[in-house]
Amino acid sequence: MRIVETISELRVSTIAQARASGKVVGLVPTLGALHAGHLSLIEAASRRDDFVVVSIFVNPTQFGPEEDYQRYPRQLIRDAELAEQVGGDLIFAPSRAEMYPDDHSTWVEVEDITEGLCGRFRPGHFRGVTTVVTKLLNIVQPDRAYFGKKDYQQLVVIKRLVRDLNIPVEIVGLPTVREADGLAVSSRNQYLDTQQRAAAPQLYQALQHGAEAARHGARGTEVEQVVRESLASEPVFTVQYVQAVDPETLQPLGEAGAPMVVAAAAYLGDTRLIDNIKIEEDAINAENDG
Ligand code: PAF
Repeated sequence: MRIVETISELRVSTIAQARASGKVVGLVPTLGALHAGHLSLIEAASRRDDFVVVSIFVNPTQFGPEEDYQRYPRQLIRDAELAEQVGGDLIFAPSRAEMYPDDHSTWVEVEDITEGLCGRFRPGHFRGVTTVVTKLLNIVQPDRAYFGKKDYQQLVVIKRLVRDLNIPVEIVGLPTVREADGLAVSSRNQYLDTQQRAAAPQLYQALQHGAEAARHGARGTEVEQVVRESLASEPVFTVQYVQAVDPETLQPLGEAGAPMVVAAAAYLGDTRLIDNIKIEEDAINAENDG
């Protein structure tokens, strides 16, 4: 698997050739430490696109000062092998200096929908994400770019960014990949000790309890309460937020019902886990009709 580290090499010798031969280009942006979630995105891209670029860049601008930028797992060679096995064609692994020259001074900011949920607790995070994603889209100029729904807010923010800036790319959101016990697959799961790992699936279980209540007609705040109560039964969690939001606008639902996305973030020790569940409007009707 070819690993390219510079923008000029990527553009001139690979993307340009792929385009010249009429290939449809897919991009899977990642921070590396590839897991089953990333691999499902690469696999999906390789089914639809002719040339799949996987970017691996631990983007410093999306990590807060107290966050895990330094300890974020870095395993480029292993990542390249994994990506190749599922149909990736090229790894783009730029250095920090390649992406952010010393006098880098331009930022891309999406307003409003970045303010709630994770944005409330991670100031500057989405500015870092939208800036690096814009740069990657400009560098690779893919026809499609793939993101997981585990980072639901990120997906909505990137769709908005692409629409607002008229970037000619299709954003594809794909379902969260889960371990057998329901825990959403994440690079950060490897930080969990045995006891924390055993408790971790309860985050998704709590969201499922909330979804069940929503299907029986519970409104946003009631659903949040159900999830919080469910999480409270596992004292090892420190809950950061539980919020039921409109799936498009990400505004809190309050007394409104589905469609909704219930999103949560909770700490297990120092490790922050996020997850979400979507409840469609027709799920409620189906339950109530039955
Ligand atoms: O979801 C991620 O892994 C990152 O936020 C992304 C989209 C690769 C930007 O650095």
